Amino acid sequence: MAKGVRQYDELAKYYDLLYAWKDYRKEGVIIAELIQRYKESTGSSLLDVGCGTGEHIMQLRGRFECTGLDVNEAMLEQARRKVQGVRFVKGNMMDFDLGRKYDVVICLFSAIGFVKTYPNLARTLRNFAKHLKEGGVVIVEPWLTRETASDGYISVLTRGSDDLKVTRVDYSRVKNGLSVIDERIVVAEKGKGISTYRDRMVLALFERDEFLRLMRQAGLRARYLKKSLAPGRGLYVGVKA
Ligand SMILES: C[S@@+](CC[C@H](N)C(=O)[O-])C[C@H]1O[C@@H](n2cnc3c(N)ncnc32)[C@H](O)[C@@H]1O
Repeated sequence: MAKGVRQYDELAKYYDLLYAWKDYRKEGVIIAELIQRYKESTGSSLLDVGCGTGEHIMQLRGRFECTGLDVNEAMLEQARRKVQGVRFVKGNMMDFDLGRKYDVVICLFSAIGFVKTYPNLARTLRNFAKHLKEGGVVIVEPWLTRETASDGYISVLTRGSDDLKVTRVDYSRVKNGLSVIDERIVVAEKGKGISTYRDRMVLALFERDEFLRLMRQAGLRARYLKKSLAPGRGLYVGVKA
């Protein structure tokens, strides 16, 4: 779970600034194309699980009747502030129960990695399938695998304006089959001064064969696509049988 990840708590208000490099518009186009290609049900209801600040929903809401779900209230607050007329609900992807079924479930930008273990992944995929109509489609954008994760990877990012700047330094390790990302975040804001934060994100490195096996076990016709939103990640697509 994302519990304790500061970027999703008190730093949620800087999330969109830190990820301004991400082309959500283009990603929305790719996701809409994949839905059109694989969805067999006739409706247009869409659930974005781990929706964060609602950036994908902003792109998809014109074509789909969207709902957003996230475990983190601070992220949901940002989403509700930006996107009016869409329901954003708090829930854990492993056990949420919205009491209805959707034509599309999406779970993007590595949110799935936060479930950390294969038993949790199996539960989560079963829950996605439970919320899908027959012929509905699920699209999951994974985090890295053991093969693609790089131990000791360093990255630095600075974003902002003259009045507000955020710098984030990451150091990524591979530990016990998990991706552990230690971060230091510095926020400098005019009139307020400087605040520094420590953060740690722990994500699973799920292997492709096992991911596909668990999707199939959940009752989904599953495939892995090389087509990616982020380079090298690929996408999992499942259709509810
Ligand atoms: C990297 S962000 C991605 C947000 C959004 N999908 C995007 O593309 O910008 C990961 C999101 O997953 C959420 N998350 C993590 N664990 C979760 C869980 N168990 N259930 C629901 N949401 C979760 C976090 O709160 C965070 O908003």
